[in-house]
Amino acid sequence: MTSAQLIRFRLFLLLSAAFLAGATDHIVGGHLGWNPNINYSLWSNNQTFYVHDLISFRYQKNTYNVFEVNKTGYDNCTMDGLAGNWSSGKDFIPLDQPKTYYFICGNGFCFSGMKVAAHVRPLPPSAAPLTPSNSSSSSSRAASASPPPRPWPAALAALAAAFAVAWIGIGSAGI
Ligand SMILES: *[C@@H]1O[C@H](CO)[C@@H](O)[C@H](O)[C@H]1NC(C)=O
Ligand SMILES: *[C@@H]1O[C@H](CO)[C@@H](O)[C@H](O)[C@H]1NC(C)=O
Ligand SMILES: *[C@@H]1O[C@H](CO)[C@@H](O)[C@H](O)[C@H]1NC(C)=O
Ligand SMILES: *[C@@H]1O[C@H](CO)[C@@H](O)[C@H](O)[C@H]1NC(C)=O
Ligand SMILES: *[C@@H]1O[C@H](CO)[C@@H](O)[C@H](O)[C@H]1NC(C)=O
Ligand SMILES: *[C@@H]1O[C@H](CO)[C@@H](O)[C@H](O)[C@H]1NC(C)=O
Repeated sequence: MTSAQLIRFRLFLLLSAAFLAGATDHIVGGHLGWNPNINYSLWSNNQTFYVHDLISFRYQKNTYNVFEVNKTGYDNCTMDGLAGNWSSGKDFIPLDQPKTYYFICGNGFCFSGMKVAAHVRPLPPSAAPLTPSNSSSSSSRAASASPPPRPWPAALAALAAAFAVAWIGIGSAGI
């Protein structure tokens, strides 16, 4: 395997594991993507983020990018509290903590509105049993008022993750 293939393969495994665990991928801005002069507060307020969901940014790389900062950085378009940076043009970022995440664009585009805050809630206490869902789409969960279905119990999700790890091991050995 080439390293590019390996990266794609790992990304595929990450997304598969997230999907099996019932996570939602929240595509920032929906079909508008990550671009200047969009009010991302409106988009974000229309989403319900849960722990283990993904937030993904789609944009023209080399022009835009994504930095995770803290509230000071978000409010003021600075790199305060810098916690991560992405620039692939199609970035999937796991939301693993029940907290508010803040993302901004560099190159001055934060001042043109390219900033988004995601308030991530803890998992709902009860996991509803088997419901094949449209959970990979960004709007399915936001549209429903009740907590989302969590199709698989945590143990199964963990098993799936273990398989993923085993496969990554095999993949690495093949380089
Ligand atoms: C985005 O929309 C919200 C709600 O209408 C508004 O309060 C906020 O000021 C807007 N933000 C910008 C940057 O226009
Ligand atoms: C909010 O979500 C609803 C249902 O998915 C959608 O119809 C509406 O356009 C969304 N509004 C915004 C501002 O994204
Ligand atoms: C934004 O920056 C100003 C100074 O540049 C600072 O006083 C203020 O506290 C910052 N905002 C937040 C939310 O920290
Ligand atoms: C953000 O990070 C900066 C620099 O590390 C720090 O001074 C500031 O207090 C932080 N702001 C918040 C809201 O945590
Ligand atoms: C971006 O993240 C990489 C590690 O993922 C780090 O080496 C690099 O310094 C970061 N760049 C900035 C501008 O923070
Ligand atoms: C997926 O969503 C579509 C339209 O929103 C709906 O017709 C369909 O029944 C859904 N499928 C499942 C498995 O929930």
